[in-house]
Amino acid sequence: MTMEINGQTRLCGLIGNPVEHTLSPAIHNALAGKLLHNLVYVPFHVEKENLGDAVKGAYGLNILGMNVTVPYKSDVIRHLQDIDGLADKIGAVNTLVRVEGGYKGYNTDILGLYRAMCNEGISLEGEKVILLGAGGAARAAAFLCAQKGAKQVYLLNRSVDKAERLADEVNRAFNMNCIKPVSAADYEKLPDQKMLAIQGTSVGLYPNVDEAVIDDKEFYRNIHTAYDLIYRPAETKFMQLVKEAGGQAYNGLKMLLYQGITAYELWNQVEIAEKTAGEVYELLREKVKV
Ligand code: ATR
Repeated sequence: MTMEINGQTRLCGLIGNPVEHTLSPAIHNALAGKLLHNLVYVPFHVEKENLGDAVKGAYGLNILGMNVTVPYKSDVIRHLQDIDGLADKIGAVNTLVRVEGGYKGYNTDILGLYRAMCNEGISLEGEKVILLGAGGAARAAAFLCAQKGAKQVYLLNRSVDKAERLADEVNRAFNMNCIKPVSAADYEKLPDQKMLAIQGTSVGLYPNVDEAVIDDKEFYRNIHTAYDLIYRPAETKFMQLVKEAGGQAYNGLKMLLYQGITAYELWNQVEIAEKTAGEVYELLREKVKV
């Protein structure tokens, strides 16, 4: 359903570079349509030197809320009025909520990942986890594992120094020692037992659909459930290898969905029903078909 844009229309948007392939307008404009909210969501391509002006300008224009994507999730923090505790710990913000005098930053990537995992029936509490990757996407997963009380997280990365830095940061943020950095080349040294795996590298992302970060079929024998943060393709090579070895595997589309839903809820102070979330999910599934 198309809403009429009129004098009361509220605006939300996305700050990033690039933003041309984003699925966020599909999520938010669908939600606005379903909830009969007079709200429009548009992407804004912002150059690095204009980031501060963009945030200030958004406030000046009475924009209700913004998403922030690559490469500004950390840089945007110094332009905020306030920041949520968890986003502050992670050092990354993807959602700006309008408050008195500016915006408050949240990280709905991590909140969305948690909602997505709950929705798939995946629990983190007391779990042993293999987390692949130490970049921006894996970072949210590492903080989530620590926050939700995973027993042990083996943080595997090609560059072990990055894994060490991230592990150290997360362990320190939560004053615990549950994240253990491991060089991806040393995957055979992991304990021989079934674990949950989270795939947070960019390996296998469309169009490189035939690649997985580890090819060895033996590795997959120890994965009972896997969550791949990639959603394009819908079934990554990593997910195929998990399934072939008898495990269950899910892609990252629900993380994308729920990070959007959580942002929309924060902006509009509403709770989105699961039925509505499911309808938007179907719409996204159509859009990401490759
Ligand atoms: P994102 O925002 O998707 O997390 P990123 O921050 O650039 O992107 O991180 C990419 C992740 O994928 C990193 O963990 C990277 O490993 P390195 O830290 O060693 O670079 C991982 N990655 C990318 N290409 C890879 C490859 N060919 N083999 C193994 N890991 C790879």
